[in-house]
Amino acid sequence: MTIRKAVIPAAGLGTRFLPATKSTPKEMLPVVDKPAIQYVVEEAVAAGLDDVLMITGRSKRTLADHFDSVPELESALEAKGDTTRLAEVRRSTELANVHFVRQGQPKGLGHAVLCAKQHVGDEPFAVLLGDDLIDERDELLTVMLALQEKTGGSVIALLEVEPDQVHLYGCAAVEPYPDAGDPDQVRVTGLVEKPDAADAPSNLAVIGRYVLNPAVFGVLETTGPGRGGEIQLTDALATLASMSPQDGGGVYGVVFRGRRYDTGDRLDYLKAVVRIAADRPDLGPDLRAWLTEYVATLT
Ligand code: UTP
Repeated sequence: MTIRKAVIPAAGLGTRFLPATKSTPKEMLPVVDKPAIQYVVEEAVAAGLDDVLMITGRSKRTLADHFDSVPELESALEAKGDTTRLAEVRRSTELANVHFVRQGQPKGLGHAVLCAKQHVGDEPFAVLLGDDLIDERDELLTVMLALQEKTGGSVIALLEVEPDQVHLYGCAAVEPYPDAGDPDQVRVTGLVEKPDAADAPSNLAVIGRYVLNPAVFGVLETTGPGRGGEIQLTDALATLASMSPQDGGGVYGVVFRGRRYDTGDRLDYLKAVVRIAADRPDLGPDLRAWLTEYVATLT
């Protein structure tokens, strides 16, 4: 079965980015000139996922408005003959079929994913975190979709991090999966959410891309609050890893070696803006020249 549905949770409180996120979801913060979440929707669409469900929280309106048409803005640009900006404004509306469902209370990422149950039904689907950017030049989601189709289980994305950073992430215990024919595709044998360095099973951190077997919904329904009092997707994945393939179990990992930015973290957000802008043909040359001069003043 070809996977078509993408779920994008965007209902977190974004406390690490306050006060900017007091009334704006962190997923709407601009990365150069597009909100972070638009990059994520573009990534989903590029991988063939044209049915997008966003899980929204208290400030749903800005998100919904961004993916809706704005007739008065479009007519103003049309009247001015500004076809380039008109195309940019229309692009977010025409990208995909975007649906919204509300997570009443931010009870955790696992609970946010469970809110997608009715829309997704009984088919495998992708989850992309709306504040986690994967550079469009680096392949990840398509590899994960292919591994899900091959195994029938669930697939997570893993990033090698410094051991002193593991406590910030979900962490995976893995073993080789020779059938994949790629040492960066592994079988996941266990998962722990934000472990202390001493208890971490590896330095492989779970990042914000998942392709899930729908059995995850049944597991989430019986998963109680975990770390931080939140219903953790990591805990449900740990259960799936111990279940048999006949019951929709089995978890695999793809180790990602490309560029990734957590835009919910202020420092990573700044790095994302600078790196993406420096690579853009319209802004890059001037920004690079200025950066070189600026960096020289720092030493
Ligand atoms: P984070 O842990 O990064 O989000 O969740 P947060 O809680 O908003 O962040 P801080 O720590 O307070 O700054 C990862 C993803 O899961 C979504 C978030 O929007 C983000 O995309 N999420 C998290 C939900 O949709 N609902 C939740 O209850 C929690």
